[in-house]
Amino acid sequence: MRKIVIAGNWKMYKTQSEAKTFFSEFPAHLKTTASQAAIADQQILICVPYTNLAILQTILPAIGQANLSIGAQNVHWAENGAFTGEISAPMLLEMGIKYVIIGHSERRQFFGETDETVNKRLKAAQAHGITPILCVGESKQQRDANETESWIFSQLAADLIDVDQNNMIVAYEPIWAIGTGDTCASSEANRVIGLIRGKLTNPNVTIQYGGSVKADNIDEIMAQPEIDGVLVGGASLDPAGFARIVNYR
Ligand code: PGA
Repeated sequence: MRKIVIAGNWKMYKTQSEAKTFFSEFPAHLKTTASQAAIADQQILICVPYTNLAILQTILPAIGQANLSIGAQNVHWAENGAFTGEISAPMLLEMGIKYVIIGHSERRQFFGETDETVNKRLKAAQAHGITPILCVGESKQQRDANETESWIFSQLAADLIDVDQNNMIVAYEPIWAIGTGDTCASSEANRVIGLIRGKLTNPNVTIQYGGSVKADNIDEIMAQPEIDGVLVGGASLDPAGFARIVNYR
């Protein structure tokens, strides 16, 4: 059975004190523990800036929400070394971090991330038992030129070389839908995610949709049979709003 993963991506938002405020409010908006037990197959994840990882890991036990985890937004492939500004898998693991976003379009667009470096980062995360969320998706120009499928297939082919498909999540994030309010039609997201699944050797990989997911479109998105969760940027910053997304059912 495919696991449902509802994830937030805070990007470069929230100082430590702002993160603590979020977590002082967020749990009260979640469904009761009893109904959470009934949805034990659902993982809630919030991927935060590095500066918030340790502090939130210490807050998490007091929240008592077993299916709630904190994740990172990138990881380097080396164990350690002269890589200024980077962070390694052992550094994340020592803090108990078990999830990391890799290959987000903002990393690819603004920080020179390539399929080759994405592949190295994926393998490094997995080698330390950290589950990567691999982001793929097309630009507006590629969609308009009917290159959506070929582009995503080429990303998957290069990114997934020697990657263990038993320990990963894929997020389909059309670039034109990220932060624009211009959500991909849920039926179209479902179609593309079905095509992505067809390219994987493991049919049980959780595949999320990401791009302008909000409280008022989550029900429609999650009703799609191929969509196993969402990766939420802007709408994950507000505790009540993100809880509404988590509580979609
Ligand atoms: P958005 O971002 O929800 O703000 O569109 C999604 C993402 O970049 O993961």
